[in-house]
Amino acid sequence: MHLPGPWSLLKGLLVTLLVSDRVHAIDLDITSEDSIKDAASTSVYAMMTYYKGNLTGHIPGAFASKWWEGSALFLALLQYWHFTGDSTYNEEMRIGMQWQAGSGDYMPNNYSSYLGNDDQMFWGLAAIMAAEVNFNDSSSGYSWLSLAQGVFNTQINRWDKTACSGGMRWQIWPYQSGYTMKNSIANGGLFQLAARLARYTGSTTYSNWAIKIWDWSLSTPLLSNTTWNVADSTNMEDSCSTQGNTQWSYNYGTYLMGAAYMYNYTNGSSTWLTAVNGLLNKTLDTFIVDGVLKEVTCEPSEMCNDNEILFKGLVSSWLSFTAILVPSTYSTILPYLQKSAKAAALSCTGHNNNTCGVRWYLSKYDGWIGMEEEISATNIFVANLIAFQKSGPVSSSTGGTSTSDPTAGENDTTSSTEKQSTITTGDRAGAGILTFVFALGWIGLMAWTVKGA
Ligand SMILES: *[C@@H]1O[C@H](CO)[C@@H](O)[C@H](O)[C@H]1NC(C)=O
Ligand SMILES: *[C@@H]1O[C@H](CO)[C@@H](O)[C@H](O)[C@H]1NC(C)=O
Ligand SMILES: *[C@@H]1O[C@H](CO)[C@@H](O)[C@H](O)[C@H]1NC(C)=O
Ligand SMILES: *[C@@H]1O[C@H](CO)[C@@H](O)[C@H](O)[C@H]1NC(C)=O
Ligand SMILES: *[C@@H]1O[C@H](CO)[C@@H](O)[C@H](O)[C@H]1NC(C)=O
Ligand SMILES: *[C@@H]1O[C@H](CO)[C@@H](O)[C@H](O)[C@H]1NC(C)=O
Repeated sequence: MHLPGPWSLLKGLLVTLLVSDRVHAIDLDITSEDSIKDAASTSVYAMMTYYKGNLTGHIPGAFASKWWEGSALFLALLQYWHFTGDSTYNEEMRIGMQWQAGSGDYMPNNYSSYLGNDDQMFWGLAAIMAAEVNFNDSSSGYSWLSLAQGVFNTQINRWDKTACSGGMRWQIWPYQSGYTMKNSIANGGLFQLAARLARYTGSTTYSNWAIKIWDWSLSTPLLSNTTWNVADSTNMEDSCSTQGNTQWSYNYGTYLMGAAYMYNYTNGSSTWLTAVNGLLNKTLDTFIVDGVLKEVTCEPSEMCNDNEILFKGLVSSWLSFTAILVPSTYSTILPYLQKSAKAAALSCTGHNNNTCGVRWYLSKYDGWIGMEEEISATNIFVANLIAFQKSGPVSSSTGGTSTSDPTAGENDTTSSTEKQSTITTGDRAGAGILTFVFALGWIGLMAWTVKGA
């Protein structure tokens, strides 16, 4: 049949609308496990288009200018595989996580001279996650548990008593700006790693350190157990008496996650329950707006950098694990995960190919595009699978098979200031360039923070 002009136009339009509706949106039914898995498989596919580590001429697990982000990618992949059973990317993940392991402590030579404690710590979290979801140890290479132990051991060697009676500095090396700061992500991150190692191994070495880092944090402006405020950083020059109080969700999330593990490890101590409830309440009050996770410091002004786009994705998974480890929080947390995932799915309607944006709370695509957006979307989708699978992370007494090496990393002589004899000129030059780039970024950040205030 041949329709007259206007009709065929209209027909064409209708077909386009119907087709685009079906193809260009992640159609998420939050009550359906399969629907959530489909959504995660779409965002994880997009996420992996940015990962070139398995291609000839590229380095597995490495993102040259943002090394820590490899750990964020693998954290998302580990949970994706664990909750969906889709092992498509497992080999790439295994190779990348081993390649970057350095001497068993995630201080690989190519990057170690300009890493921050937080960068290395995140790889430690990826390693303990691999152990907790029972991703099989590699037949050659390091066990996942030993890698987490290697990060822990090298970090506690850097526990710094030159000011503020303890704490982790932000940066590892004296020539880095940020070396004289102590911050929440480095300390709250090591606290979380210690708490997870305690629960996995049952060893009090780790729980004692978790308590020590928690107590030290409380003694500084970083963490308050009355208001539950978590500040970003504090300065060694004034003996940690002042704080940079920019509000970032991952600073809250990492202390919350560590407290949830300590609660579970102690079989339900009321002290840790108080901490979990206090931090959870403040986290939700600060970063949930109209039911949806929002990085409040940078999203409204559209000033989020790559790191900051990842924060609420990390917090999504930490909230989901908290809901499992502290069962009394489950019914509080789940509705926020659900509403956030629905909004995130509506943001994944970009470029006619399900590209996800940054600002989930808009419930539409906002024009941003990148690996970080896809990692965070994957994390919020996968976090919702706890509604269907409540088994929780394993430990060595509940089926975890990763091999322990309590002294991992201890003989890596290049991992701390004290033990390192000389830094080569090449290292110095490389680090100098990065610090310079970092300093520019910092000035930029301060400029917009002030502008935004
Ligand atoms: C979606 O389209 C954008 C714009 O063409 C492109 O940059 C991106 O790589 C595409 N994503 C996927 C998963 O194909
Ligand atoms: C790299 O991984 C992608 C996605 O998993 C896969 O399609 C591709 O074949 C792999 N390439 C190589 C060289 O292994
Ligand atoms: C370090 O860099 C070299 C040269 O680019 C590369 O061959 C190697 O795979 C890199 N190692 C890591 C751990 O990234
Ligand atoms: C928790 O309970 C288990 C089983 O009763 C016990 O083996 C373990 O020692 C307890 N953990 C702590 C930290 O009290
Ligand atoms: C946090 O606690 C305050 C005071 O008890 C309460 O008003 C508020 O609703 C709580 N927030 C959430 C998200 O539960
Ligand atoms: C610890 O976590 C498990 C899930 O892994 C949960 O079943 C258990 O109830 C938690 N323990 C406590 C004391 O809440």
